[in-house]
This record gives sequence, C-alpha cells and structure tokens, in this order.
Amino acid sequence: MERENKTLDPKDWEQMRNLGHQMIDDLIDYWKDIREKPIWKPIPEDVKNKLDQPIPSGPMDIEEIYEEFKENIFAYNKGNVHPRFFAWIQGTGTPLGTFADLMASGMNPNVTIGEHAPMYVDQQVMDWCKDMMGFPTEASGILVSGGSMANITALTVARNSLKGEDIRKSGLGSLDKKLILYCSTETHSCIQKAAEIIGLGSENIRKIPVNDRYEMRLELLEEQILSDREEGFRPFCVVGTSGTVNTGSIDPMDEILRISRKYDLWFHVDGAYGALAKLDPVYEKRLEAIEEADSLAFDLHKWFYVPYEVGCTLIRDAEKHRAAFSITPNYLIQEKRGLAGGPDSINHYGFELSRGFKALKIWMSLKEHGLDAYKALIAQNNRQAEYLGELVEANDSLELMAPVCMSITCYRMNPGNLSEEELKDLNREILLRIQEEGIAAPSSTLLEGKFTLRVANVNQRTRFEDMDLLVQETLRIGSEVISETKAV
Ligand SMILES: Cc1ncc(COP(=O)(O)O)c(C=O)c1O
Repeated sequence: MERENKTLDPKDWEQMRNLGHQMIDDLIDYWKDIREKPIWKPIPEDVKNKLDQPIPSGPMDIEEIYEEFKENIFAYNKGNVHPRFFAWIQGTGTPLGTFADLMASGMNPNVTIGEHAPMYVDQQVMDWCKDMMGFPTEASGILVSGGSMANITALTVARNSLKGEDIRKSGLGSLDKKLILYCSTETHSCIQKAAEIIGLGSENIRKIPVNDRYEMRLELLEEQILSDREEGFRPFCVVGTSGTVNTGSIDPMDEILRISRKYDLWFHVDGAYGALAKLDPVYEKRLEAIEEADSLAFDLHKWFYVPYEVGCTLIRDAEKHRAAFSITPNYLIQEKRGLAGGPDSINHYGFELSRGFKALKIWMSLKEHGLDAYKALIAQNNRQAEYLGELVEANDSLELMAPVCMSITCYRMNPGNLSEEELKDLNREILLRIQEEGIAAPSSTLLEGKFTLRVANVNQRTRFEDMDLLVQETLRIGSEVISETKAV
C-alpha cells in the first residue's frame, strides 16, 4: 500500500509567496497612512459573532482566510501603532522590528540552548542592554515576555539569594521570620502579584505612602523597616520604581540605594516603563543609582518601540542569578561541540524553557537607527509631555493633576463650577468620545480619588502638534458635553 506523506506545508508555494507579498504590502500601507486613519473604532456585534465560531475541522483557502482577517481583525486593531495613542503605556512598534519578528518566526529557533547564531544574537543584545543601563559587563540578564515577567524573575533571584538560606531546597516554610518587601503605594500591581506568587504573601508587602509628587516617602520607609525588625520580621527587599504607571514619578533612587545598603536589603528597580528615561540627559543624573541596583526590570516593547513582546531583567551578580534557576535535566546536558554546544543555556537564568528569537527585533532595530536615535526619541516624548503640561496650565478650563514627570501628563477639564462628581462624569465622557471619534486615545486613572485623563507617551510617531490637537479636542468635546448636560 502506498503511504501518504502528510504535511502542513503549502501545496502551492507560489500562492503562499504571493500572499506573503500581499501581507507586507498591506502592512506598509497601513503604517504609511496611519496618521490619517481613525485611531480606534467600536467593533460591530456581527463582527464579534464572526469571531466566535466552532473550531474549523476542514481546510480553507489561505486567500479567503486573509480576507476574513482583514475584514474582521485587521480593521479593528487596538490603535497603539497610531501617532495619538497615549493609553496605558504601550509602544508603537516599528516596520523593521515587525519584519525581524517575521524572520524570527520563520527561522523558528528555540533560543534556550545550543550552538546556533540566535544564541549569540541574544547574548549580544543582553550586552547592549547592560551597556544602555550602565550595568557592569559581568552582570547577567535575560530577555523575557515583558515587565511583569522581568520583575518576577528579579524578585525570584532576590528571594533565592537570601543569606544563609537555601530557599530552592527548603522553601519559605524553613524560615523562622517572615520576609518583608517594601515598595510604594504607586508601585505597579505586578509587584504584588510577583510577591504573592513567590510565596511572600500580600500581607508582607509594605506599601509606603508617597509625597505630593507621588514618590516614595523615605522617612516612612526607614521607620517601617525598623519597626518590622523590632516586631520579628525579616526585611529583605526594596522595590524602587523608575517611572510609576500612574504619573511617571521616580522614587528617590540614591536614597533607596543608601537605605537598602544600610539595612542589607536587595535593591530592585522596576523600570518597566521608565528605566529607559536614563537615555534622556534631563533624567540621567536622577536615575544614576539604577546602575548600582541588585536587579532591574525594563521593557523594550514600551519605550524602545519594538513590537510586542519583550522585556528584560538584569541582575548585578550573575552567580546569584544562575544559582536561582539553574537546572539540567538529562536531555539538556550541554556538549563542548555540536548542536548541543554553544553558550551557557539561557534556561539557567529564568523560568521559561522554550523562548522565541525576541532578541532579533532589538538587534535589527538598534542597527537600523543607532542608539542616538533612541535617545533623541525618548527625550522627544518627555518634551512632548512637558509641552502638553504647559498647554494645560495655560488654559483656565484645564487642570494639571500631577507634576509632569517623564512622558506622562495627567490633566482634566475643569471649568471651575462643577462638583467632583460632575467633573468625573464630564471627563469620563470626554475620554470616551475622544476615543470613539477616533481622534486620540488617552486613558484614565484616579489620582487621590479624582478622575483624571492620562496621556502616557511612548510613541515614536507622535508630533508636538498632536498635543495641540489633543487639547483643542478636549475643550471642544468638553464644551459639547457641558451644553448637552445643561440642555437636559
Ligand atoms: C511600572 C510598570 N511596571 C510593570 C509593568 C508591567 O509590564 P508588562 O505590561 O510589560 O508586563 C508596567 C506596565 O505598564 C509598568 O508601567
């Protein structure tokens, strides 16, 4: 009997080639004209229904699949490729970064072990990351999926490096004192999640209050450490944030470093958003102490503008890093030669075993533009945020809700005669309409309980005039909402 060799490769390679070319063409058109397009539009119900179908059991023509994708998916993107996307803290990506991901996906190496070029590209990019952040060359690091993963990776190393303990072997149950982690009330929620997952327990996180610039209050930090010690706890780690998610504030890095050294604590910096502000000369000095941190987490899919996903953990002491994760199952023993040779397995430096070739988009992007271009763009985003702050302050109907730090500007419309509740309704309506009309995408937050429009700019496509438009449209929509409310 003749045996059939089944495969998932195309029967018609030329059809696949043509479709691939079409996809690239469509992407180029999409990016090239993105400024003229609405930033976002609501998804009609019938489109959502088309995205809720049973699993296909038979084949479909690839051109039809692509048409369906264009109609129901491509057309309803999130919008963070658009020059006026300022919601949350989400990067824009770049064309070459995207094509790098395409090549990485096509090569499809599992970049965890072995003698192949992607392992060396990963190493090269790690060296560049250390260099950008002022970490010593002997430090270690790993590229992970994003900031949350980068933070938990660092905190795991911190926990597993506790002096005189073997946590990997004995677990936290073997400790006679509870470990305490310090951060501020403005710290990102992923730090709490990480602390819960690594077994500290959320009640052993001390969220230190902040000052009116949303920075950790150091006198309270020190008081808390002392009182915890007295009460029989074991303070072990302080997390300082470089660029808080709400307002972009910076915890006083020098002082946190000093306190962590004084009390023998691990100093971790969550720089998922704002560690890269180090590349802006205006912030360089304030962020210098990051170079002395025991560990640092930062994202490249945010302020390095590469496509999702990629974040980075750096660890000052490479031995501690390796000791926290290293494990060699029989089937992963490395050789001196052959495919199983190559650099030290990346699996020894993190939790994930299988890893994509995420280093390639950073490698290509840095070669394409050079580091100076990134420095200039990061500084530009900061200046644009400051410019927006100035526009807000110059207008009597607008109110700046927090000092502008890094590239986040928090403001609201406040004509001066409305209650807090009415201000909340007004600004929420402005936010929703500005998005629904496809003009711009700020997001919102609550600052001291007050509803605030939040413009977080890690966008390599934004121009200064986009800030003018944002203010103009905030005022236009705000006035419309006010007159509609009066008419009711
Ligand atoms: C300060 C900070 N830390 C951590 C994170 C989490 O990063 P990711 O979304 O890449 O997991 C964010 C996300 O915005 C952040 O701003």
